[in-house]
Amino acid sequence: MRPPGRYAALAQRVDTASKDGLLRRLRMVEPLGGTTARVDGRVVTLFCTNDYLGLADHPEIQAAWRGSGAGASRLVSGNRPAHVALEEALGQLYGRPATLFGSGFTANLGLLSTVVGPDDTVASDALNHASIIDGLRLSGAKKVILDHGRADIPAGTRLAVVEGVYSMDGDILDLPRYFGDHWLAVDEAHGFGCLGPGGRGAAYAKGVVPDFVMGTLGKALGVVGAFVIGPPELRELLVSFGRSFVYTTGLPEPVARAALVGLRLADDERRERLATNTRRLRMGLWQVGAEALGHAHVVPVVTGERTMAVSEALLDRGYYAPGIRWPTVPRGQERVRMTVSAAHTDDQIDGLVEALDGALRAIPTR
Ligand SMILES: Cc1ncc(COP(=O)(O)O)c(C=O)c1O
Repeated sequence: MRPPGRYAALAQRVDTASKDGLLRRLRMVEPLGGTTARVDGRVVTLFCTNDYLGLADHPEIQAAWRGSGAGASRLVSGNRPAHVALEEALGQLYGRPATLFGSGFTANLGLLSTVVGPDDTVASDALNHASIIDGLRLSGAKKVILDHGRADIPAGTRLAVVEGVYSMDGDILDLPRYFGDHWLAVDEAHGFGCLGPGGRGAAYAKGVVPDFVMGTLGKALGVVGAFVIGPPELRELLVSFGRSFVYTTGLPEPVARAALVGLRLADDERRERLATNTRRLRMGLWQVGAEALGHAHVVPVVTGERTMAVSEALLDRGYYAPGIRWPTVPRGQERVRMTVSAAHTDDQIDGLVEALDGALRAIPTR
């Protein structure tokens, strides 16, 4: 028996977070095919999946899920033909070597802590993802925080780092303005597979070839994992010194196989459908006066203090789009965040617009 009060310090933190309304909870999501799922027992349409191209339950991807766990770091006995084939395919897409990671989070940790160190200054956009913030912390580099969208990068900066599509704001920066003597790293978690020639991401869509690209396999490709693209020297350094590459088990073989199939299936036709669906949702929201931020397939509508009530009302109406609160977004900027997939039908999109309009009318601002 452990003595009572052993975890009092943790309990106190839980209590404080609970009183501040900051505790999050996991919903049970049972996929029912396509964009439909049972969420906490209710059958709804998902407008919050990152399966942007509708590939996650594609029969060819499902068939590719075979093989075993890597059993060790890739540097020990975990380097499988499927890893090499996937890195080669991604390398061909970008024309520079690719290195796989277990997730986008660990890819950003590995990339940033490898390319910069305490002697370097890094310019980082104020709305960058937590994994970029943590990667820079790990690197020990000095940080200059750029107001969101402001490309005033100080002279002497070694690296500028931005996202291709901002995950909470759905916007794409004027990326050519971030190009310069310094290196440029673009996190294409939400752009890879969806935008630009061959799905290379938002930067390529704007004609920018970043020095380093991070892309995820868990969003548009419907699998899990991530990759980093850069010059051959980066590949050498990541494999030898990238802590989140070296000191971790390689991706399971089924994941690498499925991602390889996903890469082949992620074609222009699916990207075009995603773009068409995005336009339909954004136009529909505009027509009912619920204008969304940004212009990509991440579609946030700022709803302030009503956010959680609006999200709950959407669930009641058969649509799941979560409310996003502080600390993920600033106070007063709470929002319902919708994501579009190529797999959504026109009826689902129109139904969501109607449901959001109804919820906003039913829940007045205080
Ligand atoms: C901008 C951005 N970077 C990185 C990540 C992390 O990617 P992953 O889910 O593959 O760890 C995410 C996902 O939430 C993201 O939105």
